[in-house]
Amino acid sequence: MTEIHSGPQAISMGVDRLRDQRLVAFPTETVYGLGANALNAQAVDHVFSLKGRPSNNPLIVHVSGIEMAKTVVQEWTPEAEKIAQTFWPGPVTMVLEKGSSVPSNVCADGSTVAVRCPAHPCALALIEAFGYPIVGPSANPSGWISPTTPEHVVDGFKDADLLVIDGGHCRAGIESTVVDLTQDSIQILRLGVVGAHELEETLGHTVSSPICRSEVDSDTDQVRSPGMIGAHYQPRTKTKLINTADLEAAKFDQALISWSIKSHPADGQLIEIPESMSDYASQIYRALHDADRHGNTEIWVEPPSINQGNTQERAIYEAVMERLKRATHA
Ligand code: TXA
Ligand code: MG
Repeated sequence: MTEIHSGPQAISMGVDRLRDQRLVAFPTETVYGLGANALNAQAVDHVFSLKGRPSNNPLIVHVSGIEMAKTVVQEWTPEAEKIAQTFWPGPVTMVLEKGSSVPSNVCADGSTVAVRCPAHPCALALIEAFGYPIVGPSANPSGWISPTTPEHVVDGFKDADLLVIDGGHCRAGIESTVVDLTQDSIQILRLGVVGAHELEETLGHTVSSPICRSEVDSDTDQVRSPGMIGAHYQPRTKTKLINTADLEAAKFDQALISWSIKSHPADGQLIEIPESMSDYASQIYRALHDADRHGNTEIWVEPPSINQGNTQERAIYEAVMERLKRATHA
């Protein structure tokens, strides 16, 4: 049975489980991760099978800091050092050449490894107390919306052999930015709250992101980052993006996720979401989970509004729109 525990006791129970090759769901600042000993192939296999994740989609290795990161990569590059100094602990995952300590199933038999240091006290306490890196895909069945509360994890894995460490609601609310440092030019493989502009400022050279690249390029990225494929992040209920002006047409059994209206036109389920970009990002998965549990026939989502915005808000907007497009993929 999946159980939720909190406090120091949850961390020590988590460490015991990690030592036994069992799974522990843990909070990060982005979403909850499904943790296992990253240096043990058998433990990692359990993650793939519980999630129903295709073995060609590699996992992120979570570390407690730069020293631990160095133990899982072949070479800690100057770019990696700059990014880690600026954004870690935080929502940036770096793809680097893989070190020999990492079992090949973590990296889907590829030559690279994705590594990140999460900014959540429970995640850091767990990794530090365990003493080794842990893998952490989002703690949801493959293809579902990522979890931002312990209850979302339980919803996805009711009868699993799983401990969920309760760290409250995840503040950023969408997954980390994934940046590939193994190619001649630096590329964002998955958009997140840290955008290309911020990375460029840190590195002092150009960083390309999926929205700047052509369709042809994005085919190549699908091979490089297999998690970035069409339908994903999907609620069980059919979900649509609806313009502000069209929300008034909603019927009783169509849930609304909206920042602009204060009541549902047909007395159905209204989930208010903040208008500010970072708060919208923080709340969107929770809103989708809530609407999905409520027995609606459809979920209508009002996209975030972006005025001029600063570059940081624009990066979050693009990352959220990318998730919403995939949540509403036909
Ligand atoms: O915020 C996050 O990143 C969360 C929290 C728990 O840390 N984790 C997460 O993991 O979103 P997951 O497995 O749901 O997504 C990892 C993404 C996938 O798109 C995967 O294809 C990509 O990272 N990835 C992992 N290893 C890679 C590698 N070696 N090369 C390229 N892409 C990789
Ligand atoms: Mg995921």
